[in-house]
Order: sequence, then C-alpha cells, then structure tokens
Amino acid sequence: MSDSSTFDYRRVRADFPILATEVRGKPLTYLDSAATSQKPQAVIDAVQRYYQFENSNIHRGVHYLSEQATDAYEATRAKAAEFIGAADQDEVIFTRGTTEGINLIAHGFTESVLQAGDEILITHMEHHANIVPWQIAAQQTGAILKVAPVDDRGVLDMEAFEALLSEKTKLVSVVHVSNALGTINPVKNIIAMSHARGVPVLVDGAQSIPHMPVSVAELDCDFFVLSGHKICGPTGIGLLWGKRKWLEKLPPYQSGGDMIEKVDFGGTTYKGIPGKFEAGTPHISGVIGLSAAIDYLNGIDRAAALQHELALLASATEQLSAIDGLRIIGTAPEKASVISFLIDEIHPHDIGTFLDAGGVAIRAGHHCTQPLLKRFGVPATARASFAFYNDFDDVERLVSALTKMKQFFC
Ligand code: ALA
Repeated sequence: MSDSSTFDYRRVRADFPILATEVRGKPLTYLDSAATSQKPQAVIDAVQRYYQFENSNIHRGVHYLSEQATDAYEATRAKAAEFIGAADQDEVIFTRGTTEGINLIAHGFTESVLQAGDEILITHMEHHANIVPWQIAAQQTGAILKVAPVDDRGVLDMEAFEALLSEKTKLVSVVHVSNALGTINPVKNIIAMSHARGVPVLVDGAQSIPHMPVSVAELDCDFFVLSGHKICGPTGIGLLWGKRKWLEKLPPYQSGGDMIEKVDFGGTTYKGIPGKFEAGTPHISGVIGLSAAIDYLNGIDRAAALQHELALLASATEQLSAIDGLRIIGTAPEKASVISFLIDEIHPHDIGTFLDAGGVAIRAGHHCTQPLLKRFGVPATARASFAFYNDFDDVERLVSALTKMKQFFC
C-alpha cells in the first residue's frame, strides 16, 4: 500500500539494520516500539566508536581521552537541553531512564517537601513507574495519593482532575502519552490548572517524546522525564529535566564519587546541579549513544514523521476494527500510535505468540499498568505500537496475521 504522507519512510527504514532482518524465517514486523525503539546505524556506530577509540572515565582524568569523553558527555547535556526546549543545560540530569527520574523526584519530595496529610495527584492511566514511587513516598511521609479517573475511552476526566486539586496537593505527576492506551493527555491544561493553585507538575514523557517534539519551556512543567531507549538511543540512559529552583531545593538521590564538592569526616558538601544528582561513574557510552540518537531525530522531519505515524494508526485502527470480535481498549480522540486490543476470549499471550510465529512482534500483558487495565475489566491486552520507521506493509502483516489467527482459534 502506498503512503499518503510526504515522509520518506523508505529512506528512514534503511537506517535501521534490524528492520531488514528475518524472524522465524519471516521479515521482521516490529510493532513494539512503545517497549523499546529500534536503533539507527548512527547510534550503533557511535557507541562502538566510543568503546573502540574513545573509552575513558569523565570528570576525573587529566589525560586526552578523559578530556574528550568529558567534553562529549557535557556537550550531550547541552544538546539534550536544546532537544527538549530547555534554556539551562544544568537543569538536565542524566538518569538510567524514566523510572529513575521519577524515583529521584519522589525521593526528593519525601525528604524535603511532603508532610503527613499532603496530597500527590496522579491519574488512573499511569505506568507503575509513576504510581509505586508515590505510594512509597506516601507511606514514608503520611501523604495521600489521589487518583484522577479516566472515562471508558481512556480520556482523563478533567473536571474530576480539577476537583481533586486542593491546597493540600504538593505535586501532580502525570503521563503525557499512555503506554497502554495511546491517549495523549492535555498536559498544557493540566499544568496551567495546577500552577493556578501553586502546584508543581512532573510530566512522564517516556511515550510522548518518541512521537512528537516537546518543549518544556512551552509546557512550563516543573519536571520532565524520558528514556533514551524509546527515542532510538541505548538502554539504561534517560533524562530528568527540572526547573533550577526545584533541583536546587531537592537533596541528592544517591551519594558517592563525583557528586561532592568536599568530603571530610566532619561533614560533606555537594556539587551544585547537575553534578549533585549524578553520583558515581555514569553511563558514558549511553550518553554518547543518546547524543547520536538526538542528532538522528534532529535530522528527520519530525512533523512529517508524526503525520506518517498517525496515518499508520488510522489505517491499523480501521482494519483491526473490522475484524469480528476484536475490541480496541483505548479509543481517545487524541492518540499516539499505540493500539491495545483483545479478540474474543483469546488470551493476549496467545495472540502475541501466534503473531510472533509470523515474525510480527507485539507486546502482550498488563503493560505495567495493572490499575488501568483493572479499570477496563481486563487483566491484559495485546498491544501493537508504531514508530516513524514502520510502514503500511507492517500494518498489512499485522492485519493478515490476526485474520489467520481468527481462523485458527475460532
Ligand atoms: N513501559 C514500556 C512499555 O510500555 C516498557 O512497554
């Protein structure tokens, strides 16, 4: 099928060597980018080049390689700041990923902000990474976790959300795009509403930034977290961005080498931001790979890529909806290219296994959103997620494999 958009996905696909491989003797149809994105050759090369020719520790050595590695690491901080629309590169902290970013803030709020009776407001569509750290923070401080509901389409109930904001709310922590449903939340409204009551907002951008450019300055959020591996970078590297006033107020998350100014048995002083939050030898090769991933994304037309993804989503939604017995979970009008579905009484793991036999990779399970799936009365779904490097043949292969599966099971 031809692509209606102007995005040159054929050229882009050629940048991702894994997309040309076979799985179980079939061409790989990779529809699991919400779990992790594939990597372009430029990222693979950058990581290899680092280990082959540039490997060294940072911030410590006086030798050539250490200086080079330090420069590359810090240059990525500046590049990452620009990528997310942040003016101050010191507000960018390298983390292991979204989960660590949220844990860092939850730890800081536990230590220095939350008190018994305070409230933290999240939504029913959060990933476990944006639920459990707040449950622990609440247990440790006596704060209360409030949850804004979603409707049957998977749309956040904004009236209920607003009603849950109170003078006791100390933080709103909200997902930008739901990994399980694809819902795009109106985070700009959420931030404006929260700020009107003096409440800071953390935005979980793990599933939004792979699909759309994000500017933290434009959103005016207080914290933004993302994972490098979902934006074509390596695993184990991510970013936490926070407003300087907050990062300076929060205590260190981990302690040890590289985060200190002076250590004495009588007491220790810490570096300012960002060093205060980056204890120990960081994931240097991850940062190098992330830098290449950002360059790669900056080199494609992201607006056209988004249109291409939305065209894939529309085509897949239409064709899947036509399969007898198939039910899509998550039908919000504003969606990124994620489709969760069930077919008759077939277990999602069986759907995933059947598709895998045809080289089609999807995710099946609770997607780390057990409370959300409980809200929809199901323990698990099958989930196909698209990236800009997918094409309409991928949609066709998904539909055809599901049609065959129906014949097999029913
Ligand atoms: N949170 C990732 C997903 O949705 C792993 O698959």
